[in-house]
Amino acid sequence: MKRSTWKQFTDFVTFPLRAFILFHEDRWGLSSLASERFDYVSREVMGYCLDIGCGRHNRLINEFMAGRGKGIDVFPYEGLTEENLVPDLFTFPFEESTFDSVTFIANINHVPRSQRDKELSEAYRVLRSNGNIIVTMGNPLAELVVHKVVWLYDKLLGTTYDMDSERVMGEEEEYYLIDREIVERLSRAGFQRIEKKYFFTQWGLNHLFSGCKT
Ligand SMILES: C[S@@+](CC[C@H](N)C(=O)[O-])C[C@H]1O[C@@H](n2cnc3c(N)ncnc32)[C@H](O)[C@@H]1O
Repeated sequence: MKRSTWKQFTDFVTFPLRAFILFHEDRWGLSSLASERFDYVSREVMGYCLDIGCGRHNRLINEFMAGRGKGIDVFPYEGLTEENLVPDLFTFPFEESTFDSVTFIANINHVPRSQRDKELSEAYRVLRSNGNIIVTMGNPLAELVVHKVVWLYDKLLGTTYDMDSERVMGEEEEYYLIDREIVERLSRAGFQRIEKKYFFTQWGLNHLFSGCKT
């Protein structure tokens, strides 16, 4: 369900509070950082959607796309079924031109460096022509701070919000990617009309790139 204008306003005003305590679950009528990124992405999605690295509960597809799409991941997070799990992402298990949109949400930095171009080419292959790709990434400093805050929060309070610690990050993963790398990789994979859009309710500290298969 998309956020109302009022909710976007309250999310904007309360961003500093939310950034330090609302990572995955919405509370007190406010959006978590996760719900917020799914909300921004769902506004860009054009129809049947493939969410790569969907994470716990396949939330984009189930909660924000009313089931219109597929979420896949390499790690058996809570709420995922066999249908969501793939052994690797070297080749996406779908025919070409199957999807209207492909999304990489808060995870292009978790794709091993040497595999990034391959996965983006796979995204291009499974998209229909005029379909779009959406890639989200935080500001580098914000990404570092949020990763550390979530880790510390779990250590101090015994919670399990840190999905990266649960899966254990590999050597070729990073905490963030800079814009230039994302744009260059999208272009190399064949995407055109690449645009950057900021998440205003996160005070511009998070953003997405969209690109089109022409
Ligand atoms: C920080 S989580 C983000 C999860 C979800 N997209 C979200 O926004 O909450 C990073 C995700 O990247 C996934 N991942 C790991 N290796 C990957 C790969 N090679 N390609 C795509 N995603 C991968 C992880 O399993 C995890 O679900």
